[in-house]
Amino acid sequence: MAEERDDRGDRPLDPRAMEQGPAREVEAPGGAQRTAEQGRPGDDVPSNIVAQTREGEEPYQWHSGLKREHGSTDAIEFIDVEKSFGRNTILNGLNLGIPDNQISMILGPSGTGKSVCIKHMVGLLYPDRGDVLVHGQSVPGMVDDELFEMRKKFGVLFQDGALFGSMNVLDNVAFPLRQHTDKGEEEIDEICRRRLREVGLQGALDKFPNELSGGMRKRAGFARALVLDPDIVLFDEPDSGLDPVRTALLCELIQEVHAENGGAYVVITHDIMSARRVADYIAVLWKGRIVESGPASELFDSPNQFVRQFLSGEARGPLGME
Ligand SMILES: Nc1ncnc2c1ncn2[C@@H]1O[C@H](COP(=O)(O)OP(=O)(O)O)[C@@H](O)[C@H]1O
Ligand SMILES: [Mg+2]
Repeated sequence: MAEERDDRGDRPLDPRAMEQGPAREVEAPGGAQRTAEQGRPGDDVPSNIVAQTREGEEPYQWHSGLKREHGSTDAIEFIDVEKSFGRNTILNGLNLGIPDNQISMILGPSGTGKSVCIKHMVGLLYPDRGDVLVHGQSVPGMVDDELFEMRKKFGVLFQDGALFGSMNVLDNVAFPLRQHTDKGEEEIDEICRRRLREVGLQGALDKFPNELSGGMRKRAGFARALVLDPDIVLFDEPDSGLDPVRTALLCELIQEVHAENGGAYVVITHDIMSARRVADYIAVLWKGRIVESGPASELFDSPNQFVRQFLSGEARGPLGME
């Protein structure tokens, strides 16, 4: 009620807010190993432990924290990140590395903090404790200018495409180029048409967002996310609101564009089918920590019952409805 809220994360764009800086009680990234030692459940976990999980007595018993090798460098790293809103703890010791040049998926039930994760990557939210690194640079430690530069590395596809309703598709896609570069209109036009061709919208340049289907809006948002040639592209639930066929097409498109452009793609979703289709690397998020992360093929084969249940979408297993 009268409890004082720590809302440091709510005014992240003010550099003065960063001067005090979020607490940097960061240990070596070895933190992940620490949790990895804490009893990784085997295949033969007795059923009463399943019941305990449901009652919330052992919330982290399935979190081996195992970070399997991905054979690349980390484009983004979360190190012991904690984040609460008031009394509501969302991230609670999050350790995660997002590999460069792969398509990574962060999977978790709705409301687990996936969007909160994305906002930490681009410095729209700051951790209460721990650190977030982009290409080895601490995001919470950046001053405003550095943050501004860092954000140019990112393309972001928001949930609904987040297009400007008053602009046609071509102007929407041109917007970041006009805003962030001094390229001439001819070059901008050429870049936008190429990107829109890439996502199959060459016939919709003059259309306004309200004339587009949900799938087309997402593709336009995708084209816009690509125009600055980002090193990292973030997709927040790209499959939400799409039927299965359009989801499959969008997944295919993400793979094609990634194969063409490279970079670290981070796709956030609760849709397991999308993960099966496009993920090179998977991290399962639950209760503010990564249960396990690693190459998709290994995670789909994980001996961890929780991971297996989650990735197969089965009703039976340690993951209860909450
Ligand atoms: N700015 C904020 N202030 C307070 N609570 C927030 C804020 N952003 C997210 N939350 C809370 O954090 C939790 C996780 O949200 P979110 O990351 O959006 O989940 P999801 O995994 O579905 O993307 C939710 O309970 C949400 O209400
Ligand atoms: Mg979300």
